[in-house]
Amino acid sequence: MKFGVIGDIHGFWDERDTAFFNTSDYDMLLFVGDFARVVNALPVARQLAALTKPAWAIPGNHDGVGLWQLLAEVKNRPLAARLGARGMQKRVRQLDEALGGIRLGGYTLAELGRDLGLLVARPHAMGPNRFYYRHYLQSAFGVTDFQSSADKLCALVDAAPANLVVLAHNGPAGLGNTPGTPFGCDFDPEYGDFGDPDLRAAIDHAHATGRRVHAVLAGHMHHRSKHTGAWRDTWAQDATTLYLNAARVPRIEDDGAKRHHIALTVEGDTVRAETVFVDNDGRETGRCPLGRTTPTND
Ligand SMILES: [Fe+2]
Ligand SMILES: [Fe+2]
Repeated sequence: MKFGVIGDIHGFWDERDTAFFNTSDYDMLLFVGDFARVVNALPVARQLAALTKPAWAIPGNHDGVGLWQLLAEVKNRPLAARLGARGMQKRVRQLDEALGGIRLGGYTLAELGRDLGLLVARPHAMGPNRFYYRHYLQSAFGVTDFQSSADKLCALVDAAPANLVVLAHNGPAGLGNTPGTPFGCDFDPEYGDFGDPDLRAAIDHAHATGRRVHAVLAGHMHHRSKHTGAWRDTWAQDATTLYLNAARVPRIEDDGAKRHHIALTVEGDTVRAETVFVDNDGRETGRCPLGRTTPTND
């Protein structure tokens, strides 16, 4: 299967992107979330609804949330965060409706093809230092902390086929603890590895139960640090799994002449990914390999 993977959009999407993907040869599009520029993902979602390809998305920490709610979560103001969570189920429902045929997941297991499943991880993920959006996650999914989230994800893994692709907003723990790693913390190096432990637990559980996780797709930790200007590595791999950070922000540069996405191909046991740049007319202007796994039988 060929997937088009689109990282944090943050408002950078127009009808040229829609036209490109509708005429592309991708079998499916996967969105890692953060549609909103800051908050209010609906304008982008309404544009995405014109896509005709099958597609899945996970909400980011900027999607389905209010501005004061987001600030309360960032600043760790529990009372304001609790109040802000009140309208979140409704806002997420509105986002789902605005996305039209794009399926909005969160703790979801879907079938992609024969013996290939898609696991959509915890929605609205914002990092491992606190369990962000706890009130919403508790009311919508019954999870209250990283452990209960890991348990829920592992239960989905237990129901999954032998081959999996994972879609998340933030990436998993375990891929490095410096700012230059795919999900290392750039805004405060003290945090080190900013990947999520519940997602790591789910991936490890999949490995331990004999499943092959072909690719883990995420974003959130933007490629270029707005604090230092430094670029991070955007992929990593272990014996059987390719990890991709798709969050190039802004994803459209040079007045539209440079539009980013990732091409992911899962072909039997072989997985490969490439960064792709497309211009205003949908012409490919650059392609760069990100990694490839061809696992041996283990
Ligand atoms: Fe983002
Ligand atoms: Fe994010």
